[in-house]
Amino acid sequence: MSLNLDDRQRAMLDAMGVTVWWPQQAAVLVPVAAASNAIDIEANKSIPVSQNAEIIEEKQPATPHKTVLPVQVAASARPPRVDSALATQTWPELQASVSQCQACSLCQTRKNTVFGVGQATLDPDAPPQVDWLIVGEAPGENEDLQGEPFVGQAGKLLDNMLRSLGLARHDRVYIANVLKCRPPGNRNPAPDEIAQCTPYLLRQIELLQPKIILAMGRFAINSLLAPTVPGVDNIPVGKLRGQVHRFGNTPVVVTYHPAYLLRNLPEKAKAWTDLCLAHETVTTAG
Ligand code: URA
Repeated sequence: MSLNLDDRQRAMLDAMGVTVWWPQQAAVLVPVAAASNAIDIEANKSIPVSQNAEIIEEKQPATPHKTVLPVQVAASARPPRVDSALATQTWPELQASVSQCQACSLCQTRKNTVFGVGQATLDPDAPPQVDWLIVGEAPGENEDLQGEPFVGQAGKLLDNMLRSLGLARHDRVYIANVLKCRPPGNRNPAPDEIAQCTPYLLRQIELLQPKIILAMGRFAINSLLAPTVPGVDNIPVGKLRGQVHRFGNTPVVVTYHPAYLLRNLPEKAKAWTDLCLAHETVTTAG
């Protein structure tokens, strides 16, 4: 397992309310055959992660510790086709399209569009080179004001979790939302808004070519997995976790939205487990 947490990273997780137990000796990876059934990550005791409130104590095993990859790869499918008007747009052209977008009524109430944030590029025409694409729902009030995703409390939690993996929002990561404009009053995105905005996300994915997509929360999950998971909108997030899905050929791991985690603290440990699965998927893919 390549996830070697140092003391600082452990302390950060602790401060977030996520306690991670990890053996000192190197773990041995045992990949699961792609055809095997999904392994419920909760049952996978080889990544013992627990919430402070309900710490799972595990002693170091006498035998070498084995990490079983809970990887179930869904059948690969073509990604949905990018809207033809966007299909040839470069990264800066796409950014300009979003900033001028008037496809739905959110353009009347937004202060800023929120295209995304991530790794800087040296070539202004090139998309950022990233390993991770993290997809949330829609900008909130702070994001609308600043034009950047996840700058509020939920964003702080996300940043801390990324830091615990040795990542950061400007380092090998890109963060975007399904919607690029704020729904007034932070209401849920409406179906027509999602339909109008999804082509931008699809083109972002096509240009970024991330090694992993982390879909955070119901709206990101539905938007990304609809082509490959029939009836995804009726499947609880908890049932979609713990396996590697696909968006085209790109692996997708789902997790809870950070705003949900702030309201449901015991679920933080599960989100940390999801991030470990995503990290594992990136590192084993090379
Ligand atoms: N929630 C989201 O889904 N996205 C943001 O950018 C901020 C909060």
